[in-house]
Amino acid sequence: MKIAPSLLSCDFSVMGEEIRRMDKAGADWMHLDVMDGHFVPNITFGAPVIKWVRKYTDKPFDVHLMISDPLKYIDDFADAGADIITFHVECDSDIDATIDKIKGRGILPGLVIKPNTPAEAVFPYLDKLALVLVMTVEPGFGGQSFMADMLPKVTAIKEECARRGLDLLIEADGGIGEATVAQAAGAGVDVCVAGTAVFKADDAAKAIRALQSVN
Ligand code: DX5
Ligand code: ZN
Repeated sequence: MKIAPSLLSCDFSVMGEEIRRMDKAGADWMHLDVMDGHFVPNITFGAPVIKWVRKYTDKPFDVHLMISDPLKYIDDFADAGADIITFHVECDSDIDATIDKIKGRGILPGLVIKPNTPAEAVFPYLDKLALVLVMTVEPGFGGQSFMADMLPKVTAIKEECARRGLDLLIEADGGIGEATVAQAAGAGVDVCVAGTAVFKADDAAKAIRALQSVN
């Protein structure tokens, strides 16, 4: 299992150091949650902050856009150093145009689905995507409980990809820790985002290793 610590749970006054700490602790990717206070009821940070912290690691930056109009900002996040950009199928931007814009900047595109959105919502776009992110909490805040009833969507997307001969990664985000990671792995999740479970652990390296060792 690949583990992407969510910086939403870090000490923002030393975000660069927190990224370095996660790098040394063995994180696979850095997960950066961008919220606009409109698509979700919370505000975090944007491209300028990501640009400043980019230099603290060489590991992939997995930028999760919880914003209403992602298309408008793809160039900013590309310039800031994103390697992967995921955005919500429920957003207001044109989905195909946004995927094309991300790919045009040499970045891996992913679509995200909220808990009330069916797996089938991403099917029309699968052959253009590098990954699908299945939310296992309502987006907006860290520290919520894992929704195991989202896992059938992972299986459905996996099956559709297999049927069409596509090789996409499936990422899960929200409420993932030692108690829930095995369920995600069992459903076929390739990458787990973990905020609270990693940042609140006494030993981040040990916490990341424990999550990675599940398959
Ligand atoms: C929620 C964010 C998540 C969140 C995960 O909107 O997308 O990435 O930070 O945090 P935990 O692991 O604490 O649920
Ligand atoms: Zn996220």
